[in-house]
Amino acid sequence: MIHSSIINSANDILNQAIIHHNDQPIGTVAARDNNLSAGNYSECFIRDFFPSALVFLMDGRHDIVRNFLQAVLLLRNQQRQMEGHELAEGLMPASFTVISNTGKPTSLVADFGDRAIGRVAPVDSAMWWIILLRSYTIISGDIGLAHSENFQRGIRQILNLYLKESFETSPAMLVPDGSCMIDRRMGVYGHPLEIQSLFYGMLLSAQELLLNNDANQSLLVMVRQRVQTLRSYIRLYYWLDIERLNEIHRYKSEEFGWDAVNVLNINPEIIPEWLDGWLPLDTGYLVGNVGPGKIDFRFFTLGNLLAILFGLTTDKQAAGIMNLYETHWERLIGQMPLKIIYPAVRGDEWVFMTGSDPKNVAWSYHNGGNWPSLLWTFAGAALRAGREDLARSALDVTLTRLHQDCWPEYYDGKSGALIGRRANLNQTWSATSLIITDRLLKDPDSLAVFDTVVF
Ligand code: GLC
Repeated sequence: MIHSSIINSANDILNQAIIHHNDQPIGTVAARDNNLSAGNYSECFIRDFFPSALVFLMDGRHDIVRNFLQAVLLLRNQQRQMEGHELAEGLMPASFTVISNTGKPTSLVADFGDRAIGRVAPVDSAMWWIILLRSYTIISGDIGLAHSENFQRGIRQILNLYLKESFETSPAMLVPDGSCMIDRRMGVYGHPLEIQSLFYGMLLSAQELLLNNDANQSLLVMVRQRVQTLRSYIRLYYWLDIERLNEIHRYKSEEFGWDAVNVLNINPEIIPEWLDGWLPLDTGYLVGNVGPGKIDFRFFTLGNLLAILFGLTTDKQAAGIMNLYETHWERLIGQMPLKIIYPAVRGDEWVFMTGSDPKNVAWSYHNGGNWPSLLWTFAGAALRAGREDLARSALDVTLTRLHQDCWPEYYDGKSGALIGRRANLNQTWSATSLIITDRLLKDPDSLAVFDTVVF
């Protein structure tokens, strides 16, 4: 099939995924498959809608994105207060669905994790929402929406929640397991990279969107400071290249006091064997998680790529991450871009970390599966780092097969050669990811648009 018909077919997937509320387009379902692997894929997920929204914005279909932003803002009022708890004002739902009532207007019902599998907290939703609001504002030129009183109040509520002091000992944000794209137990509690990258992107966006008035003054000061401390912390403590690995390898532990070098008391014994020889000169990446006595050395794709897109990495670090992709193309891109985490956990580690989750066995789903939905972030990051060649190669790998396989949600196996055992077909963000990547590479003008979308 020729290139343009594949892209047309991806556009069909997107258009068929659109859902309406009171006759207005308002979002897209996660997947349209007669045998959905779980009931909630027929809902509109905030994180899945982001690439749909980028396509709509690139196509001048601003109204859908505006409707979505308004609806989600209102939906935060549906959050139920748990007995004995304060309401977490500023939390946004993981997903929502449209309920048809015969003879009456449709209604929207949100899920704040109270219906979700495993009851996971959607910490990333509000961050995607603010980042999207910025993209919408820039591309549509409609600054009025973000500046309206209810949007300004919404942004303030989110920031109040996300900047609230809890039990932090670093500028990184502390979250429970499964609170982002990897929404199951996968050892991503504590300070996972994806959350830190989104947090950084959200703070930068909010800084631009908040009006400089009395109501926002103190928040703006905090945001500005946190942007800086978070950026320095991630660039230092999450960055791993051969030089830093050497340092950790020779760390002394049990250091107390202000002069400590190994401040987090990392025992070199935690360095995994697979890292030996994995980091040639001029390569590097941001590790998955950092905390007291802890470094999760696994390579998490989304966190690394968003860090490049939002400018959280230095240019040198961004180049190092792209060199790493080139070096380990078979492992990190394979036969279907992209590996979500490398490497997979197995054996006892899988038992303890995932709670023996059969969906997350080694080299499947979140545990080292390959996700086409990650392609757009790879293309954006590669272009930002001046590696158009890598973006093109990744698109070539994806093009024919993804369409032939009917847009699966994910692939299994070390190199992503097999359609995921429980993958949905017609997964919306598998299609939108391809459309965005194609557009970025084909049309230099849309590249400019993309640049303003993501910093
Ligand atoms: C899975 C993914 C999650 C996604 C959802 C809908 O739960 O882990 O990131 O939002 O499916 O596609």
